[in-house]
This record gives sequence, structure tokens and C-alpha cells, in this order.
Amino acid sequence: METLQGMKRTHHCGALRKTDVDQEVVLCGWVSRRRDHGGLIFVDMRDRSGFVQVVFDEASMNEGTFHKAESLRNEFCIAVRGKIRARSEETINPNMETGEVEVVCAELRILNEAKTPPFYIQDGVDVDEKIRLKYRYLDLRRPEMQKNIMLRHRVTKIMRDFFDRNGFLEIETPMLCKSTPEGARDFLVPSRVNPGEFYALPQSPQIFKQILQVAGFEKYFQIVRCFRDEDLRADRQPEFTQLDIEMSFMDQDQILGLMEELAKEMFEKAIGAKIETPFERMDWDTAMDKYGSDKPDLRFDMPLMDISEFVKGSDFKVFNAVIENGGMVKCIKVDGYADIPRRRLDDLVKFVQIYGAKGLAWIQYSEEGIKSPFKKFYSDETFAKIAEATGAKTGDLLLVVADKRLVVDTALGQLRLEMGKERNLIDPDALRFLWVVDFPMYEWSDEEKRWKAMHHPFTAPRDEDIQYLQSDPGRVKAKAYDMVLNGVEVGGGSLRIYNAELQEKVFESLGLTYEQAHEKFGFMMDAFQYGTPPHGGLAFGLDRLVMLMAKRDSIRDVIAFPKNQSARDVMSAAPSPVEEKQLRELSIRTAVKKKENKQEQ
Ligand code: AMO
Ligand code: AMP
Repeated sequence: METLQGMKRTHHCGALRKTDVDQEVVLCGWVSRRRDHGGLIFVDMRDRSGFVQVVFDEASMNEGTFHKAESLRNEFCIAVRGKIRARSEETINPNMETGEVEVVCAELRILNEAKTPPFYIQDGVDVDEKIRLKYRYLDLRRPEMQKNIMLRHRVTKIMRDFFDRNGFLEIETPMLCKSTPEGARDFLVPSRVNPGEFYALPQSPQIFKQILQVAGFEKYFQIVRCFRDEDLRADRQPEFTQLDIEMSFMDQDQILGLMEELAKEMFEKAIGAKIETPFERMDWDTAMDKYGSDKPDLRFDMPLMDISEFVKGSDFKVFNAVIENGGMVKCIKVDGYADIPRRRLDDLVKFVQIYGAKGLAWIQYSEEGIKSPFKKFYSDETFAKIAEATGAKTGDLLLVVADKRLVVDTALGQLRLEMGKERNLIDPDALRFLWVVDFPMYEWSDEEKRWKAMHHPFTAPRDEDIQYLQSDPGRVKAKAYDMVLNGVEVGGGSLRIYNAELQEKVFESLGLTYEQAHEKFGFMMDAFQYGTPPHGGLAFGLDRLVMLMAKRDSIRDVIAFPKNQSARDVMSAAPSPVEEKQLRELSIRTAVKKKENKQEQ
């Protein structure tokens, strides 16, 4: 192995251009590919900036160096001194940014050899994610992953600049916090010096950022890690990063306006996308009714349509029973898909069942006439009326679900997304921003048989709805808003309650007794008695934003060291059992029998 002594890097591989020809350069990086042509060896050398071709010519270099070049293998770490030469017309590689030049090597140092990697360090290679996560350091060497991580850096830099310019202060809040009810499940940390007591890792800095408003900081932001012990999905990690924001003396329009400016600046500066402001706003009721989702993807239309009035009162029991029980019959129209294969319809029946629908019906307005499982129950006139109301033309397909409102909306909302993909209706380059506003204050938890805060218990109800907090929680709307991009919730927030009395009322409506509320949130209600300013804010999911900018399907691709679907760090094998002694110090005994260090699942 050799050292770098006397060799100082002068350039980055990916930056070399024709204008650099004849310069002597020193490069450091990795062997990406080696091609041996007898007396000539070509090495694609890679560093963070990209690739360049290095040429080892037996005829014009010292023998020792050439032999060394013969021993190079993929992922060896090397340093090269050489001269830049223009490639001849026929050898120019238009697929490489540095394709017009090559480096003729004069001196080679092998700084470190490498074992054969378990997969090629290349973009677009199909490698099981388990292997990618286990060898994350190699996965991260792939140019596309490097780009994602660099993009993430750029995005946080733009955020910090934006907030600094707008008078916001970045203030850190604790990682070891009090466990409070509501929200997701907490990650707990035992306190050694306070046996039997636990901290919780923050699910978000919500309470602290509000208290910072009481403390008079007026404009706060933080790029902060949050922890939630919930079931994982492609866009959910147990630890993730929020851009967290809170401000005093601003109304909802001012907050949304400022956040639109931020989004515009981020997307323009980070990926060069032109974003139109102001963003469309849609109230929650409309989003659910029209798109069956509180985060509608507006890159294509295909709204849900109510056809209950046309199908009620017939002999078709399925629809009748649903409508009589207060449910509804809704459909989506899929243009030009009347010829959908029967097999696919059978799949779609199973698809809507995942979302609680009992069945799926359809009307195919095909060239040969109408095909539908309920054809015999209705007249041609009814099918014509439905066609008129939905705009269905010959060749179109209606997919129909009958059930309770929430089931119909959810199932058809998901089916809409499925059809959007299947029929290629989604422009992958489009960026459709939307604010969803006027969320319900509460949602009913069937599991716990009580009302829960839809956002969080510090969200202010609309003034005109305060009267219903106790009597009719279901009709109370909140001053809450979500920013949605291409069907992904990228951020959410609200105006807050800033009055201790109202806060107490809301805790009460959530089923917390006065004592419980004081035990858990007393410090906050105390603080609220000292001239709390009106305030509000929101938080963006940084991982989700960067995922969308990088056009990836999973936030794991924009996090350097993510957890897998079972919340494990596969590379370092965390979580893992700990020594008895450590548990004893923490006054903890586990109910789980000690097992061998569990590897990835
Ligand atoms: P909320 O819970 O909506 O609001 O979170 C804000 C944003 O964080 C992202 N997010 C996640 N990203 C990855 N993995 C997760 N498990 C995860 N959970 C949430 C989403 C979401 O929109 N304190 C409030 C904000 C406020 O009211 O100011 C809060 O945390 O993009
Ligand atoms: P069944 O009487 O249950 O066999 O249903 C007859 C047809 O009605 C089925 O083939 C489905 O196409 C349709 N269907 C049943 N349940 C529903 C539902 N909840 N929503 C829409 N269509 C349904």
C-alpha cells in the first residue's frame, strides 16, 4: 500500500474538460472499471464529482507503473498523476461529461485495495435492497445515491438561507423529552439516575416550539430529527427529519404565503423547477368527496362522482340496501377503457376490498353496447342518464362502489390512483402543489372508542365551531393545513390554541381528565398564562421533499443510513440485545429471553 505523500490532488475527475488539455493533474478516487487491451489499459476513475478515463500506455511509461496498473481491480482507491489529452474524434464518448478528454498516467499510487464488492457500483443496477443496506457504504458510492445525498445537502442549505433572510432563528430543542399522550407511540429512553423513569424521544418539537413563542422568539425554525414508533412504509421511517417552523403574530394566509415562497425557492434553486404561486387550496371535505383522499394527486383529474340518485329505488338489492342505510354509490370514469379485460376487473374487485369495499361494479360503454353486472336491473334510459351526468362516452369505463361514504371515498380514491398509473395519465415531470385546508378537528377512533385529534391537540378549532367542542365534535373544523405535492403530504401544520382555558377544553374533549391534562401538559398550560402571543406553524418532511425532488419512490433513497421495513439498521445490526450489567444499571429487566444477536430480518 502506498501513501499520498508528495501528491496533492489538483482536480476532480468529473470536472475535466477540453479547456484543461495539456495540464498536469493529480486525481484521487476509485477504480470504477478497468479494460485491458494488452499494452494499453483504460481505467474509468471515479470520485464524488464523476468519472474520467485514465490511460496507461506500456510504450510510454515506466514498467513498474504499468505492472501496477495491471493489478488494479474495481473499487481500489488510487491516486494518479498525469497529463490531460484530447481524445481523437472517433474515441470521444458523448455519454460521459468528461468524454472529450482522457488522462495519460505518469504516476500511479494504490492507496488501498478492495475486496470484490457484492454488487456493481453503478446506477440503475437491480440489487436487493437488503444487500444495499448491509453494504450501505458501497451503495452510497453509486453516483445516483451520491447525487441524492448532495441534493439533500443543497436543500437544507437553501432552507437555512431562506429562513435567515426572513428573520427566523434556528433553535435546538431537547432530544430527551417528557412522554406525552396523543400522537404516535413514543420511543422511550430509561433514565439511569432516576430509576424507573423514562424520557421519550421527540415525535416533533411541537410543544417546545410553541413555548419558544411564549418566550418571545417570534420566528423559529429547526431542521430536526423526529422519532415515531409506527408501522413503516415507503415514505415513513422511525426516525426522520422535519423542517420545523413556528411564528407569532401571523395569520393563516401569511403563513401559507411564506411557505409557498419557501417551496418555490427550494424547487427552483435545488432542481431548477419553475413553480407557480399561489398554490391551489382545497378544503378537506372537497378533497375527500372529489378525490377520496386528504392528499389528492392532481397531476390527473378523474374525480369521484355520485350516481346514487340514478340507481336508487330499483330491484338491484346491493345498491338499494346501501342507499337505504345512508350510504352512497359513486364512480370514477376511466376514459377509453371500456375494453378492460375481464381478468383485470376481477383483480380490481380484490383491490377495492383491501380498502374495505365489499365489492366493485362497472359499466362498460363499449361499441357493442353496455356491459355491466347490474344491466338487467336498469333501463337503457338510466344508463344514458348516468352517461350524461358523468360525461361517459362510447369506449369509456365507469368503476362503481357502493358503501358508507368513507369506504366509498377511500376505495375509489385508491382505485383512481391505480387507474391513473395504469392508463399513463401521470406526467412524471409535473409538480402539482396543493394546500388542503379546513381539516376536521377530530377523528373517531373505533379502536379506543373516543375522539382523537386529527392533527394534534394544540391545533385551534375554527372560532365558529368552538361551541360544538363538547356537543358535536365531529362537526368541528380546525385551522389546520397540509401541503400536498403530487399526492404526497409533504408538510402539515396549524394555527394554535394560545389560551389556557380553550386548551383545557380541548384536552377534555379528547377524554383527558383535568388531573391527567395537568400531569402531562401542566407546564404548557402554566406557560400559556403569561401573555402567550397568537402563533402557528407547520413542519415539512425533509425526506419526502428530497425524495420527490430526486424522483424516487422511497425516502430510504435520500437518507444516508435508513432503517429497513422492520425498523432495523441492517449495516450495524441495531437494535441488539445489551449486557445484563447495562440493564441492571438502568433498573430494567426484560420479559424477553436472551437470544442470539438477531441479524437483519
Ligand atoms: P406531522 O405529524 O404532520 O406534523 O409531520 C409533519 C411532516 O413530517 C413528515 N412525516 C414523516 N416523514 C417520514 N417518516 C415519518 N414517519 C413521518 N411522519 C411525518 C410528513 C409530515 O407532513 N408538529 C406537527 C407540525 C406542526 O403542527 O407544526 C407535526 O409533526 O411530511
Ligand atoms: P352480489 O349480489 O353480491 O353477487 O353482487 C352482484 C354484483 O354487484 C357484483 O358482481 C358486483 O359487481 C356488484 N357489487 C356488489 N357489492 C358491491 C359494492 N359494495 N359496490 C359496488 N358494486 C357491488
